[in-house]
Amino acid sequence: MAIHPDPALIAPVPFNRATVVGSERRYLLEALANEDFGGTGPFARRCEALLEKHIGVPRALLTTSCTHALEMCALLLDLGPGDEVIMPSFTYVGCANAIALRQARPVFADIRADSFTLDPAGIEPLITARTKAIMLVHYAGISPDVEAIAALAKRRGLVLIEDNAHGAFARQGGRQLGTFGGLATLSFHATKNITCGEGGALLVNDPALIGRAEIIRDGGTDRSRFRRGEVGFYAWQELGSSYTIGDLLAAALLAQLESRDEITARRRTLWERYAQDLQHWAAAAGVALPYVPAGADQPYHVFYLVMPTREARTEFIAQLHDDGVHCASHYVPLHQSAPARRLMLRSQCELTEDVAARIVRLPLYTNMTEAEQSRVIESVLAARL
Ligand SMILES: Cc1ncc(COP(=O)(O)O)c(C=O)c1O
Repeated sequence: MAIHPDPALIAPVPFNRATVVGSERRYLLEALANEDFGGTGPFARRCEALLEKHIGVPRALLTTSCTHALEMCALLLDLGPGDEVIMPSFTYVGCANAIALRQARPVFADIRADSFTLDPAGIEPLITARTKAIMLVHYAGISPDVEAIAALAKRRGLVLIEDNAHGAFARQGGRQLGTFGGLATLSFHATKNITCGEGGALLVNDPALIGRAEIIRDGGTDRSRFRRGEVGFYAWQELGSSYTIGDLLAAALLAQLESRDEITARRRTLWERYAQDLQHWAAAAGVALPYVPAGADQPYHVFYLVMPTREARTEFIAQLHDDGVHCASHYVPLHQSAPARRLMLRSQCELTEDVAARIVRLPLYTNMTEAEQSRVIESVLAARL
């Protein structure tokens, strides 16, 4: 008689599966029944109210992506030719595009070797008369220096933009990430803890920017005010684009936002099992596990390993791939990219280059089963370094 192995033991383990909590269906059907699922609809407003209340920001605006929320930041700050924004090279390309699309210059600063977030000591020497903002990326939703960088920005008269794509509802020192800067962004992309496939948000902490943010998101018009009955018609007011998210996506998102605590709890269990089961192996193999500073209330978004060498990482990813376990590296340094060379955005980011060459992320998704995680752990422990 043929023996059929348990399919869970042989099926490949993907790097990511989008979070599904179940209650999305009810809200999606409700949104369809509303027959009103364009941008800035009833579900989008409910999502925004939830973000405003639970993150503690004066205004949250849902957007089509975090990338677009970053583009809105660039428009809100009136970035133009000659302006500079200090940002990490170890980040997503959308951060640099947002600045460069306005003909302003991303100025790349290096990261800390442990948290992979901007090193405050590296920022100050890069500030010039042309610097308008600092864009801080909370890598993995962890940001040990956010307070220090916010204080530096304030002292030097610069706007702080917090790119919190990874860390919705995470805190540092008891305070929500996304509340330190004048502006902050979130991502609800399919790889994020809370998702509607493609989506994001702009958090506006500076009350003086709220009116313009609404205009920029709505095609550069005052349509939001028109919808609220504050003006009789709407017209072109300034540069903007169509950054509003449709209400079907907002309906799915609301279900997940309401389940944020369950999502975090599930991911925490997975994250802590990796940390526990891999600690001895990592110490023996010279592999670094994720750094979590004091005061971090983290979102359990990423579980990464920092391998001893670039070659060890390549070999490790290949071995796990052959085992059906899909791991992923992360950002390719932006300062080494072709556009950065073309725009002559030179910089010294040695730690960025080193980390980018050695980091690998293990599969981690909200609905990951215990059997799937066991497969990953067994593959890691069996890998020949
Ligand atoms: C740090 C960071 N910022 C921005 C983004 C862009 O997010 P979105 O896909 O929602 O545009 C990402 C994407 O993963 C990211 O990692």
